Amino acid sequence: MVRALTGIQPSGPPHIGNLKGMVEPAVELQESTEPFYFIASYHAMTTLKDPELFRQYQLEAAATFLAFGLDPKRAALFRQQDIPEVCELSWILGTHINLGILERAHAFKSAKDKGKEINLGTFSYPVLMAADILLYDTNLVPVGKDQKQHVEMAKDFAAGFNHRYGEEIFVIPEPVIRPEVATVPGVDGQKMSKSYGNTLGVFTPPKQLRKRVMKVVTDSKEMADPKDPDSCNVFALYGLFATKDEQAELADRYRAGGMGYGHAKQALFEVMDRALAEPRERYLELMDKPEQIEDVLEEGAAKARSVALQTMERVRSATGLGARR
Ligand code: TYM
Repeated sequence: MVRALTGIQPSGPPHIGNLKGMVEPAVELQESTEPFYFIASYHAMTTLKDPELFRQYQLEAAATFLAFGLDPKRAALFRQQDIPEVCELSWILGTHINLGILERAHAFKSAKDKGKEINLGTFSYPVLMAADILLYDTNLVPVGKDQKQHVEMAKDFAAGFNHRYGEEIFVIPEPVIRPEVATVPGVDGQKMSKSYGNTLGVFTPPKQLRKRVMKVVTDSKEMADPKDPDSCNVFALYGLFATKDEQAELADRYRAGGMGYGHAKQALFEVMDRALAEPRERYLELMDKPEQIEDVLEEGAAKARSVALQTMERVRSATGLGARR
């Protein structure tokens, strides 16, 4: 069976970029793969140091997968920290990786350019991510475009390791990136990201969500002017939620002129609310019963750990960490 694996950092409430770029494609993959999806707590720890918020965001991330239809009977949904072998593998991989490669990682470079605090975890982030992927014999990694480089690194690390110690050790993973949602724009037109403060929350209550949608930046064309749907953020976001007919209709209204951006934003809010209302209800029910989420996570961890232990057996034995038998 093909195994799909992906993770989300519990570093803030999930946003539309996470939903369209990863959660929805990942949930769809449960039809054709064995899904291993997890909450990347150790990764989030590189930036988040508030224990209460941290716990809350871990639950929110888990509830998001479930609210959008992940079936815990088919999938292993777990917390990264419940499989301690991931740290062991991360260390072992790290002893085979040159600093130069990690210095070229986008996330590190952008943190450095912005003068952000860079701790050891930020620097070795791609190594831990490779350990996440390789520990579970992953074939497919559904992600948004911003994670492509990290998955490519995991492939390279795996190939290098296999070359040195034996081709049967790691499965070589492949990223799965849907072109139409590879980079979802935020309210300011840049990539939607928790760290840019430009997100539209998946579970933001409707009134607040509408206010946020009204903040999406547009050009300054007047109501009467014809407008270009293809260069408009509002239209790009609309396309993520509207049917093909609705998109064609709104595109015509853009080109005809006589429609202000306020109308387009209202239309965007309506299609978003239509799509999010039901999952929001399921999400609120789940968040009301955190013990149910905990049960799912515990079961997921048991399933994931049994695979992790087998991988570590191969790694330990191949590298000489394991006892001679
Ligand atoms: P994270 O938590 O930043 O994001 C979770 C997923 O959401 C996708 N995403 C987007 N997709 C399209 N447009 C956007 N604006 C957008 N913003 C976020 C991300 O690409 C990601 O797929 N390092 C990972 C977590 C991780 C992981 C892993 C993923 C840790 N280990 C192993 C896969 C495999 C991260 O920070 O994702």
